[in-house]
Amino acid sequence: MIRTPLRPLARILRARANGENPSEIEAENRRQRHEQMRDRARNRAESRLLVLGLCFFAAFGAIGLRMGAIAATEPEEPRTAAVGKTVLAAEDFTVVRGGRAVVRAAGVALGEGERLAIVGRSGSGKTTLARALVGLVPARGTVRLAGKAVAPASAELRRAVAMVFQDPSTSFDPRHSVLRIVTEPLFRSGLDAAARRERARQALAQVGLEDVLDRKPHAFSGGQRQRIAIARALIADPRVLIADEAVSALDAALRADVVRLLDGLARERGIALIFIAHDLALVRTLADRIVVMDDGAIVEDARREDLFAAPRHPASRALIAAAAEQAAPHG
Ligand SMILES: Nc1ncnc2c1ncn2[C@@H]1O[C@H](COP(=O)(O)OP(=O)(O)O)[C@@H](O)[C@H]1O
Ligand SMILES: [Mg+2]
Repeated sequence: MIRTPLRPLARILRARANGENPSEIEAENRRQRHEQMRDRARNRAESRLLVLGLCFFAAFGAIGLRMGAIAATEPEEPRTAAVGKTVLAAEDFTVVRGGRAVVRAAGVALGEGERLAIVGRSGSGKTTLARALVGLVPARGTVRLAGKAVAPASAELRRAVAMVFQDPSTSFDPRHSVLRIVTEPLFRSGLDAAARRERARQALAQVGLEDVLDRKPHAFSGGQRQRIAIARALIADPRVLIADEAVSALDAALRADVVRLLDGLARERGIALIFIAHDLALVRTLADRIVVMDDGAIVEDARREDLFAAPRHPASRALIAAAAEQAAPHG
């Protein structure tokens, strides 16, 4: 903006040498001085505007930060994946085992992409509810897929809802190859053997296992077997994955790995997760919402933050106390 004219004397001397008229040069110098002053005035005005603008932004920035801080303490914090329509709902589930109702009028609804934890002490009915939901255990109740009631154990339900259990070795036939185990959900898919093999290879690569298709399950460690179980669960593109104590049998370091893997894959593919655990330690960082079971009944169903901040049921309080105990450093 600011021009730097040649010094007048130097210009006049040079103009004379070039045969120009010095009075014209003086007029030009005056014009330039005038322009310079105008430019300076404009610059001052602009600086003032800039300062004003900065103050404005600082003020709004502070308000924004303050609002951000408030939002962070609200239950609707942004960690939650986009939870949309209900993908799976179980209504009024009752399961009678050995003449006793081990699940009583239980209902849960799972949003698209949501991560729901079902927690409760051992024997509270979590596994029975999960198995009843996919028709593995006879039950009374209604299950809906995206709002539509579906028959228990129907092909539609089996395809939409995959499960990973605590001890995969009990659900793997030791005589079968990893290929056969992992592609089991594809048997009625119409894919030929080569396509199934390729899908299995991809699914296993996603859980970090390469070149394992022709081996038998006993050749793998517990953590690896659980990865194979996850590959099998994901191979047919389910909408919901139920992991029932899927990491409880693993040691602590592996547990966190497998949880991260499950969580990452589910997020990546928009799969809703039901994570079943007998304690709150793991689900604390994983779940959007927590359902607490006690003695066959759902006694609390709350957003994770709300449950930890203000548990309403004694069973919830007991689980929180136990988790705090576990987190506290012991000698
Ligand atoms: N096949 C069965 N026969 C009789 N009782 C059963 C059977 N399966 C589970 N139960 C009982 O149902 C209750 C809930 O078990 P379960 O669903 O495995 O609980 P959790 O998964 O919460 O530990 C327990 O009291 C258990 O003993
Ligand atoms: Mg169980």
